[in-house]
Amino acid sequence: MARVAIVTGGTRGIGEAISLALKEMGFTVVANYGGNDAKAAEFTARTGIPAYKWDVGDHQACIDGCARVEAEVGPIDVVVNNAGVTRDGVLHKMSFDDWNDVMRINLGGCFNMAKATFGGMRERRWGRIVNIGSVNGQAGQYGQVNYAAAKSGIHGFTKALAQEGAKFGVTVNAIAPGYIDTDMVAAVPAPVLEKIVAKIPVGRLGQASEIARGVAFLCSENAAFVTGSTMSINGGQHMY
Ligand code: CAA
Repeated sequence: MARVAIVTGGTRGIGEAISLALKEMGFTVVANYGGNDAKAAEFTARTGIPAYKWDVGDHQACIDGCARVEAEVGPIDVVVNNAGVTRDGVLHKMSFDDWNDVMRINLGGCFNMAKATFGGMRERRWGRIVNIGSVNGQAGQYGQVNYAAAKSGIHGFTKALAQEGAKFGVTVNAIAPGYIDTDMVAAVPAPVLEKIVAKIPVGRLGQASEIARGVAFLCSENAAFVTGSTMSINGGQHMY
């Protein structure tokens, strides 16, 4: 029977591309999403991938949501922690809510989803967790103390959990995307984005599918010896 994979924020942007790539690999894919019902319905109609709505920043919602997926679809063997938000602003203008939302959703979401699924993976002696970090968690970014801290935290979280999962056949890795052609990046003011793209050696934004292919590799049997690693896919913007 096909293994079940869940992709948080899996109906749009990078998450959508990941959902499709894992489906193509033969996983039974479930997409979680947080808010955009219309897009989720359109995604499910087009792809046949079911979409489950909950806030990954809400601990109990993750426990309950994953239990529902397991009852309705099957045991979750693959988790891709992709859901994330930005609340950009320089520190002196950033509110506590802007800080807290990003920490709660982007970093807290990884903890919440791992808590809901890691025990089952350990018992079944097989699992894949892929956390989506960011070049801005590696290099920092003006106007993103919240996002850079959360994404940087994801990289530490990945290395720690990888050590706990290794003896149970559970690998835990991260991907650090650069600037990818998505709604999130389109929200960056055009003059600011132009300056950023000018510093990307490959000379363009990345495509969501280019991140999805990295995730697909990390979820495959071929990646059984890869754990605790961060794969940078950023067009050479930051060589880490
Ligand atoms: N380094 C140094 N100074 C900078 C700077 C930088 N990188 N960027 C802006 N500044 C300066 C400006 O020159 C300006 O200085 P002066 O007042 O002396 O002219 C000052 O900072 C204020 O700049 P803004 O007018 O842009 O300030 P703002 O308050 O209107 O906006 C901001 C600040 C919201 C942070 C805006 O600059 C911005 O949106 N930046 C983009 C942040 C970014 O890259 N976000 C990534 C989102 S996508 C993502 O996160 C996905 C991923 O994983 C990669």
